[in-house]
Amino acid sequence: MSDYLFDNTASQSAGRFSALETCYDHVTQGNLTRLGVGSGWNCLEVGGGGGSLGTWLADAVGPTGSVLLTDLAPKIAPDRERPNLTIARHDVVDDDLPEASFDLIHSRLVLLHLPERQQVLKRLVSALKPGGWLVLEEFDCEWTPVLDAPHAGASDLFSKVHGAVLRLLTEAGADVTWGRNVQAAMAQAGLKDVSSTTFAESWAGGGTGAGLHRVNTEQVEDQLIAAGITRESLREFWTLLDDPNFVVNSYPLISARGQRQA
Ligand SMILES: C[S@@+](CC[C@H](N)C(=O)[O-])C[C@H]1O[C@@H](n2cnc3c(N)ncnc32)[C@H](O)[C@@H]1O
Repeated sequence: MSDYLFDNTASQSAGRFSALETCYDHVTQGNLTRLGVGSGWNCLEVGGGGGSLGTWLADAVGPTGSVLLTDLAPKIAPDRERPNLTIARHDVVDDDLPEASFDLIHSRLVLLHLPERQQVLKRLVSALKPGGWLVLEEFDCEWTPVLDAPHAGASDLFSKVHGAVLRLLTEAGADVTWGRNVQAAMAQAGLKDVSSTTFAESWAGGGTGAGLHRVNTEQVEDQLIAAGITRESLREFWTLLDDPNFVVNSYPLISARGQRQA
């Protein structure tokens, strides 16, 4: 069973999905459009979370295509359901996956969390049709420099609390630098024509991106306190995240694509 740190049963998951959608869906949709996803494709969306991308894919492939969205705990609102979108509760580490079935497999910010990511990557390659595409989009969580700060000490405070979050993720089995490793891993898994692009932007306090840090730290508040972050530091951190004079680099999203040999 997964030790996924930010599990979807917590109240913060809706805020996390909403922030990820707002900040990154336009990037993902651009990448998948450039890849050529379209009418009639059979797609697998792994760890589809709140379903925005599964729904977008279902609309992109149309009635002659299909999308299977899997997640440990899918949270799909009724208005995101589509006739050609199948939603399945599924653990990508252990549960069966069909072989050689998909024109496209996409997954964003899932393998990063899984200690078994290399085995999962092999399973995903096997699930592609010959000539099918795998697109993995992952963060490099360690490149989040503070770009502007309202007072001396803000940068250190951000580093202290954010660093503690990254340590919790690592203890739970995540590779917080998986984004910088994913291209090589995909090539080693036998995919051809592997390439990647990276997206990042500035996140100002009070904005949607800063809100991602807020929901993440709220969800693991007790673990942060147990790890030595004081309640006062957490309160100061949340105040910083609301301050428009505080600006931090977004998590860079590395989008890597590769094709199964025909
Ligand atoms: C950070 S969220 C990303 C959600 C969505 N892919 C996005 O980018 O907006 C990670 C998602 O992966 C799912 N997940 C974690 N471990 C999983 C596993 N072993 N099998 C399937 N899904 C998993 C979680 O339930 C969660 O919905």
